[in-house]
Amino acid sequence: MTEQLIIDGNKAAASDGKTFDVYDPSSGDVLAVVAKATKSDVDRAVDAAHTALESRAWGGAPPAERGRIMMRIAHTLRDRAEELATLESRDNGKPLKQARTDVQVAARYFEFFAGIADKIMGNTIPLGPGFLDYTVREPIGVSAQIIPWNYPIQIGARGVAPAIASGCTVVLKPAEDAPMTALRLGEIALECGLPAGVLNVLPGMGPEAGAALASHSGINQLTFTGSVEVGIAVAKMAADNIVPVVMELGGKSPNIVFADADMDTTATGVANAIFQNAGQTCSAGSRLLVERTAHDELVARLSERAIRMRVGPGVSDPDMGPIISKKQLETVDNYVKIGEREGARVAAGGARPSDAALANGYFYQPTLLDRVSPDMRVAQEEIFGPVLAIIPFDDLEEAIGIANRSQYGLVAGIWTRDINKAMTIASRVKTGQVYINTYGAGGGVELPFGGYKKSGYGREKGLDSLASYTQIKNVCVRFA
Ligand code: NAI
Ligand code: MG
Repeated sequence: MTEQLIIDGNKAAASDGKTFDVYDPSSGDVLAVVAKATKSDVDRAVDAAHTALESRAWGGAPPAERGRIMMRIAHTLRDRAEELATLESRDNGKPLKQARTDVQVAARYFEFFAGIADKIMGNTIPLGPGFLDYTVREPIGVSAQIIPWNYPIQIGARGVAPAIASGCTVVLKPAEDAPMTALRLGEIALECGLPAGVLNVLPGMGPEAGAALASHSGINQLTFTGSVEVGIAVAKMAADNIVPVVMELGGKSPNIVFADADMDTTATGVANAIFQNAGQTCSAGSRLLVERTAHDELVARLSERAIRMRVGPGVSDPDMGPIISKKQLETVDNYVKIGEREGARVAAGGARPSDAALANGYFYQPTLLDRVSPDMRVAQEEIFGPVLAIIPFDDLEEAIGIANRSQYGLVAGIWTRDINKAMTIASRVKTGQVYINTYGAGGGVELPFGGYKKSGYGREKGLDSLASYTQIKNVCVRFA
């Protein structure tokens, strides 16, 4: 059965009837056949979103009612968590345990922003006697959202929930590599009472449906998560229509470890930060900066873990699943070879697993690249796979210098018992988030998230995300 587009509350085939195959990365088998949205489908979806916006059935509804419907979506995501997690695991390849967490985090986004729907407030601005000046935060309009394949349900919810809490309507384009749970999210939202046209879901190809959406004159805002290259292209398309953009473009985030850190929790934190989702995480801790005196011990601990990790199909709930696609697998393997040519040493992994049962899937071993120097390509470029670049340092200043010697600036982790070191780095590292003695905080739904430098601009998650989905109207009244 073909999975259909969701436009104006209805399931629809693509205008030209075409479909594309979605693969299970654990086996290379076809998981689903999905309608492939065309430019004319994008036109229909943007029209539907615009009509839904103008009808005020959503944006004009009592804010508390918007919140109740969003809370229903949160409950339904939780009620159907096992089904959704299994689907996410098959589609993306991630271990079932991680997919379960993703569904809970998606539910949490709807819950968090449900509670905000009736608390989006303005200001009064004192102008003296005879004046009342106030601001109102109105929905920005039709939000176009182009999301990647690495965390489809989480990133789908991360953009949709604040947008609809603000009274916006949405056209969501999931990635061609993993579109399934975004479609389920669209179905669930309708079942929970979200009016037709408020959330349209259009799986399709980037250069076709994605570009048609980003360049559409009927959208009022664009949220993009993906590569820097495509981010630049879509920002230019949006610029032609003066459409503001939120860009989340990944990174090369450092975990900075001092010798005085608790090595048990640090090794666990550093390993999870790179091997979660097989390293295909925008905020992956893909550089380990380790104080030289702790280097050998930490690398030994990480190697032991990496070698012990069970790699297998996501639904068998291993420690690590496959890479999303053959192409991405080749990219990862190629980077490891580049690293070796540059003089890095493979301390663990560095190849596909030998297990014949995994031969058809896109598996790669958890990999440690040791003796990396800060200017090597493997220290500078986003690999987007389970490959950790390990760089020793001798003192705090050097650590800060290496951490900031990057075109990216998404997240930094700091591991030390010394509060002075931790706070010095937190204040000087050029990243949008800093974690001290942890890396992440259960999905981070409540925390503003976004990049410095080429990691992007604008903030998602938390209350700060509302700035993207609202526009401020100032009303000045003279009553003297
Ligand atoms: P991508 O940037 O091509 O894809 C992200 C989204 O953009 C998808 O929905 C795709 O269909 C869409 N897209 C692609 N070309 C488009 C175009 N011309 N116009 C409009 N939309 C378009 O990322 P891809 O190819 O899947 O991965 C390549 C690299 O990008 C990865 O190796 C990784 O380094 C980075 N990446 C970063 C992510 C993050 O979380 N920040 C997520 C996915 C990829
Ligand atoms: Mg691409």
